[in-house]
Amino acid sequence: MSKTSVLLGIETSCDDTAAAVLVDGKLASSVVSSQPQHVEFGGVVPEIASRAHEKLLVSVVESALQKAGVKKNDLTGLVVTKGPGLIGSLMVGVSFTKALSVGLCIPFIGVNHLEGHLASLFLSEQTPPYPHLCLIVSGGHTQLMRIDAPGKFLILGKTRDDAAGEAFDKVGKIMGLDYPAGPLIDKLSVSGNRAFHSFPRTRLKGYDYSFSGIKTSVLYYLNSFEEEERLIHLQSSLPDLCASFQEAVVDMLLSPVKKAVKDTGIRHVGLVGGVSANSRLRKRMSGLMDAQHGQMYVPDMAYCMDNAAMIAMAGHLRLELGEQSALSEIANPSLKLL
Ligand code: KG4
Ligand code: ZN
Repeated sequence: MSKTSVLLGIETSCDDTAAAVLVDGKLASSVVSSQPQHVEFGGVVPEIASRAHEKLLVSVVESALQKAGVKKNDLTGLVVTKGPGLIGSLMVGVSFTKALSVGLCIPFIGVNHLEGHLASLFLSEQTPPYPHLCLIVSGGHTQLMRIDAPGKFLILGKTRDDAAGEAFDKVGKIMGLDYPAGPLIDKLSVSGNRAFHSFPRTRLKGYDYSFSGIKTSVLYYLNSFEEEERLIHLQSSLPDLCASFQEAVVDMLLSPVKKAVKDTGIRHVGLVGGVSANSRLRKRMSGLMDAQHGQMYVPDMAYCMDNAAMIAMAGHLRLELGEQSALSEIANPSLKLL
């Protein structure tokens, strides 16, 4: 029988300090500490984020170990996000992990943050078979992928400008909502009229995305009112505007997915990343996959947004392939998946 694997995952690529424990591929604990300090700036301030990671990481790791009922000496391996992300934030996680790896004499592996999001599907009861398609929709990325085996991917399409989450956050800012606006737009949209205003849908050839047009179109729409009138309009029609904007984004996200399912014949499709928490996107994607006689896979809500459980799972899949990182591994803010 193989020795029990007890992995500690660490995620510090942006503004969430997270740690998780995975025992033989099963999640034993997951702790995420968010940084509310960024709200007043309307976005993540890199310097504040890295300093906060430094302050929080030890206690977040201790809490993850305690919740899992695991001692440091029980750990058999470490997994850390090595990129992409904010350099200062990534360096906190990578340096910490390398030091712990030397101190405990156990291997570590640095993984790509996006590979973590892809692996979040394997934290659920029902996991997708290979090959499957996966739409990654987060604050920093929007891409449609084909996954043939662990670590074997193909990018079918990606955004040429803003990521979907970025579009939610920027449009939210235009509407006067706090950062990150995605969850709030989702909530407000529930009582809104999706047909209130028809924002233009950008559709590119192939599987690529573009969200800069819709952001500008919301801005132009609101700027067409005089200031006082605009505030009154926003007050009376905010849920309708949110629902109309959200519907347009969902339409744009799903159109390449539908095409990819038809073109590849692959009927197992995952939806991951922060925006996969969006209730309307989940509903519409589920409807699309039903119509295609396919199956949709989404992580539990807790593992849509950044977390270390998905990072630990990505590392688990890589370590099973016999891979590990050398101590020369460094954080790479612009790390590519391929
Ligand atoms: O994956 P994530 O936690 O961080 C990145 O890797 O970027 O994604 C964060 C993004 C933010 O842009 C946030 O506004 C968006 O996910 N988001 C949502 C929802 N929940 C989070 N967007 C739309 N609807 C939601 N319910
Ligand atoms: Zn993410």
